[in-house]
Order: sequence, then C-alpha cells, then structure tokens
Amino acid sequence: MSMLSVERLEMEYQSDRGPVRAVRGVSFAVERGNFYTLLGPSGCGKTSTLRCIAGLETPTAGKITIGEEVVYDRQTRVVVPTHRRAVGMVFQSYAIWPHLTVFDNVGFPLVHGKNRVPRARVRPMVERALDLVQLGHLADRPAPALSGGQQQRVALARAIVYEPDLLLLDEPLSNLDAKLREEMRQELKDLVARLNITTLYVTHDQTEALAMSNLVAVMYEGEIVQEGSPQDVYLRPASPFTANFVGKTNLLNGAVAGGGVETAHGLITIPLPDWTKEAASVVLAFRPEAVALEASDGPIAANTIRGSVSGSSFVGETLEYVVTASEDAFKVKGDPFAPFRIGDEVDLHLPSDRVLIMPGDEATRAELAAAAQLAAAE
Ligand SMILES: Nc1ncnc2c1ncn2[C@@H]1O[C@H](COP(=O)(O)OP(=O)(O)OP(=O)(O)O)[C@@H](O)[C@H]1O
Ligand SMILES: [Mg+2]
Repeated sequence: MSMLSVERLEMEYQSDRGPVRAVRGVSFAVERGNFYTLLGPSGCGKTSTLRCIAGLETPTAGKITIGEEVVYDRQTRVVVPTHRRAVGMVFQSYAIWPHLTVFDNVGFPLVHGKNRVPRARVRPMVERALDLVQLGHLADRPAPALSGGQQQRVALARAIVYEPDLLLLDEPLSNLDAKLREEMRQELKDLVARLNITTLYVTHDQTEALAMSNLVAVMYEGEIVQEGSPQDVYLRPASPFTANFVGKTNLLNGAVAGGGVETAHGLITIPLPDWTKEAASVVLAFRPEAVALEASDGPIAANTIRGSVSGSSFVGETLEYVVTASEDAFKVKGDPFAPFRIGDEVDLHLPSDRVLIMPGDEATRAELAAAAQLAAAE
C-alpha cells in the first residue's frame, strides 16, 4: 500500500503570455516509510508537483491519493483543502517568521491556523519537535539570530510538529554551504528514518538524490523521464538527458556495424540491443570512471581510444582529466597517486559492459543539446 500515489497529474499556471504547462502527466507512487526524490533541473516542475500534493495549487487533471484518502480527483471533483491533508512541508525558502522566536515559529500552526490544538498540548508538541532536530536549547532565540543550518532545522521542526504521514521537502538544503549540506543530508535521512515518515524530496542536486533516496524520479520539462533506484538511474540511464544530468557522461556518435558501433575512433565492440537493427545512427555513452586510463604503448588495442591529456584537475580523491582525441574531448578519472601530465599520450580503454547505447534520432539530439546546455550552466 502506497503512502502517496500521483496519477497523470497536470498543472498549469496562467500568465500574460497564456498558460504555462508546469506539470505534464506525472505519475508515481511512494511506498510507506520510503524516501522518494524528484530530481531535475530548474523549472522542470518539481515545486509545482509538491504544491499540488500539499493542496496549495489546484491541478488541471489527474488524481492524488494520500494514505487511503483521495485528496484530489479531477474526474469525481474531489478537492480536499490543505489543512485537512496530513502532510508537512518545508519550502524552498524555509518561510520562517523573522519576528518570532524559534519556539513560536514551530508552535505557530498549533496556535493559529485551522489545525489548532488545545493550549496544554502546544508546549510538549513543540518541545518534542525541537528536540528531534536538536534545537531545544535555542527555543527562546529570535529566529533571525540563527545560522542557515539552524533556520533550516526550525522549518523542519515546524513541518514535523504534527507528526505527519507524509513529509514534503522542497530543496531544503540548497541554501546551506557545502559542508553543512553534507552533514544535514545524513541527519535528515536519519531523522525521517527514525520517525518512519514517508518523505517526498525535491532537488536539482544529483549527489543529494543518489545519497538519500530509495527511489529517484528524474524530471525534465514537466515529465518524469526515468524512475529507479539510485544505482539504476546512474548506471543504467534510459535517456541521454538522464545520463548527462545525473553525473558526468561522455557521448560519442556512431553507426551500427557488425558486432558493434563504428565511430570516429574506430570500432567499439559492444552487445547490440534488438532495436539497433532498425537504427542507422546511435549514440554511445560512458562515465568518466568507467574508463581504464593507461599510458599509450604500441599499437592501439581493441575498444580503445588514443588521445592526449589536455586538462587535469586534482579534486582530492581522484584526478579528473580531459583527454582530447581528434575532434572530441573526453572526461576521464585517474589515479591521483600516478598522475599524467598535460600532453601525455594516453589510451582510454572502454570495457564493453560499461558502454551504453542509445538511439541517435532527432529527439535524442534535442535532449543532448538540452543536457549540454545545463551542464555548461552549472
Ligand atoms: N506563479 C507562476 N506563474 C507562472 N509560471 C510559473 C509560476 N511558478 C512557476 N512557473 C513556471 O512553471 C514551471 C515549473 O516551475 P517549478 O517552480 O515547478 O519548477 P522547479 O522544478 O521547482 O524549479 P527550481 O529548481 O528552479 O525551483 C517553470 O517553467 C516556471 O517558470
Ligand atoms: Mg522549485
């Protein structure tokens, strides 16, 4: 039984230039106790999807079920108001009140809104929520006198104060610096696991999505283009968009030939899936860490691209090289204990089970261009 089910959800905004189709037929389900992430670039419809689930936005079509209750159904015209949905939400901007103390921020919905609780219950509920996020000692501080990470925890405490069945988190770590973000990532994951709260998480940060989730849905232009475990979406991306957005990928155009794919760098021998019988041009994709990098020596071996090192950056646990071979530049990882120098001749060996093959059609090219643009913007 899922805790959340979203079926063929569609949502539009009205703007001066006509309707904006922010969500275009999104379907997914989150199992009880799971951590599920919507991962995608800015503007792909993540926040809009969350707002529909929380009841802050009215969809134009589809159906949303939380627990056993249908909270939205276009067909039967069911719309359950926000305050009657058992969800907690942390907004992209936190939305904490600067004129209130930490305690009053967390207690606000308990004292004011439509879900008021008897006065005697406020203090124990707020104290428990603050303890869970380890802010008990700061209850009387004015909210602005907190660090970014502490403010983030206030927003989280407020979202869990009712012990919701479902927690919606909209990029909750994006305002934090890199180190704190990493700490909070683990803390947040532990916290929701401890409370056994089903969590729907939204981020554009692939590392965050891979590290935290049971399942990841990759979104692009209002649609889910792939759903799977972190390993699935990383190691077996179903489209060039996913391959490029989730991690770094090298792409190589080629033509189907007997036993493999003929490229500008010779024949790459790989197993050919059935659909390639109908395909003339294809795209090969391989990760920087999928390649074995060696100093060039003698004739070029099979499945090997020979090039020269044109760039290198040391990032601690690994060295990231750019290797240029005729017109192409490839990203490759290397051993930081045995560095190559700029200008060194090297061989990239591509194990055939680590190279993915994708259609080289128009749609794919459009996705590739979009992914390349996003990568350049990062
Ligand atoms: N109030 C609004 N009026 C009109 N269009 C909007 C409005 N809010 C969002 N949009 C548009 O809807 C689309 C989806 O926006 P949404 O905020 O859901 O994206 P997102 O994936 O959350 O992006 P980000 O990572 O930047 O937060 C975008 O094209 C955006 O420009
Ligand atoms: Mg957003």
